[in-house]
Amino acid sequence: MTIPTTPPRKRLFIRTFGCQMNVYDSGRMADVLAPLGYGPVETPEEADMVILNTCHIREKASEKVFSDLGRLRVMKEARAEAGHKMVVAVAGCVAQAEGREIVARAPWVDIVLGPQTYHRLPEMVARAARAAGAQIDTDFPVEQKFDLLPAPRAGQGPIAFLTIQEGCDKFCSFCVVPYTRGAEFSRPVAAIMAEARGLVAGGAREIALLGQNVNAWHGEAPDGSTWNLSRLLYALAELPDLPRIRYTTSHPRDMDDALIRAHGEIPQLMPFLHLPVQSGSDRVLQAMNRGHKVDDFIRVTDALREARPDIALSSDFIVGHPGEKAEDHAATMALVGRVGFALAYSFKYSQRPGTPAAGQPLQVAEAVKDARLQELQALLRRQQDDFNESCVNRDCDVLFTNPGRHPGQVMGRTPWLQPVHALGPLSLIGTTARVRVAARFPNSLSAILLDQKELACA
Ligand code: SAH
Ligand code: SF4
Ligand code: F3S
Repeated sequence: MTIPTTPPRKRLFIRTFGCQMNVYDSGRMADVLAPLGYGPVETPEEADMVILNTCHIREKASEKVFSDLGRLRVMKEARAEAGHKMVVAVAGCVAQAEGREIVARAPWVDIVLGPQTYHRLPEMVARAARAAGAQIDTDFPVEQKFDLLPAPRAGQGPIAFLTIQEGCDKFCSFCVVPYTRGAEFSRPVAAIMAEARGLVAGGAREIALLGQNVNAWHGEAPDGSTWNLSRLLYALAELPDLPRIRYTTSHPRDMDDALIRAHGEIPQLMPFLHLPVQSGSDRVLQAMNRGHKVDDFIRVTDALREARPDIALSSDFIVGHPGEKAEDHAATMALVGRVGFALAYSFKYSQRPGTPAAGQPLQVAEAVKDARLQELQALLRRQQDDFNESCVNRDCDVLFTNPGRHPGQVMGRTPWLQPVHALGPLSLIGTTARVRVAARFPNSLSAILLDQKELACA
């Protein structure tokens, strides 16, 4: 029997590019549009409103937006012929960086809004509906969007994101984030705790705290004092029914001793940390304005492993930053060999307009970047495979999140964030269960539920 449902009055399609903060933001845009009658749909063709939530971090990422916009133009025209309107909005970091340029290149765009103005979306939609021309808002308003957005709707699923910090004051030579997300801002403790409680009440069993520099978070507590991230983690660990906590993305420079200690003391803090290092050469780190040396990174990662011996690390790397020489690249390879990563993201340096590195001489040739990336990725791939191999026959808890691709399968995440599938009932979704890892694949694991195995053996 199918349960009759009332279709949403207006159909909203959001495509999200870029980082997890954009995923969180897309959810908040859906929340802010829900009272206007917009409900989510899976494809853009029939949508009354399409939002592209964009990423500007590398050239390729931002160019994708314009190819999507080309396709949306065709859809919008087809809908107009059928007598329907389609509002096209560009949000996120490309919107912030390019603003009016987007409308100049794609005049069928109705709304351009930067990441700090999502709370103004209903007003912009209303104006766009009155066909008052393209609406552009890339302010960094004095009012805080977090104070004005509605509380996230429950039901994000067992794994929920919670933005606690936004923006960046670090100005790494290569990076657009300080320009697209603005100055560093930390949300206050009370707002974070209230949101976390709401997420848990809605079924979240893992909360990932988000921030561009999440470990630089320092929020005002109700008693007027200032907490740092470790203090917040201890408070979150007090929440009942929240077995898992993570935070991302951290800067090596802000990994203080208390935070490292928290990894040894808070069982809910998952033994996996994403800590981008970018390069293994002090010379390049300095040119990047990263504010730490290779030795600092090694000291932090050693201390983390001492505090929490089963911790796995992931990182980000850039090859071919202006001025990077063969010996710098060799130093990066050596650092990877020394530290060992369970997962990593590596990129060719991409010149971003307006950033200090973009104008530097000594840009590295594309072919050199290609060769360095290949060499680095081969090593990182081997390390990832080795890590996954080391999990085989190991027992661990999995948080089950959704049905698997095949009937009877459920999917979840290990403490080390690996996707894992197992045969088991759908009722496992939203719970953690003990498994034995059976096999590894390039980017996932398979596992056997231990209770079921015991049943099978009985
Ligand atoms: N706040 C995080 C990173 C945010 S951007 C940090 O401090 O590390 C995510 C990743 O994109 C970065 O870690 C970096 O590896 C990569 N990245 C950023 N700008 C880039 C550029 N211009 N070219 C290539 N990769 C870049
Ligand atoms: Fe970008 Fe550096 Fe800030 Fe990270 S710390 S967001 S890489 S400027
Ligand atoms: Fe991209 Fe903006 Fe995130 S540039 S990585 S979407 S902060």
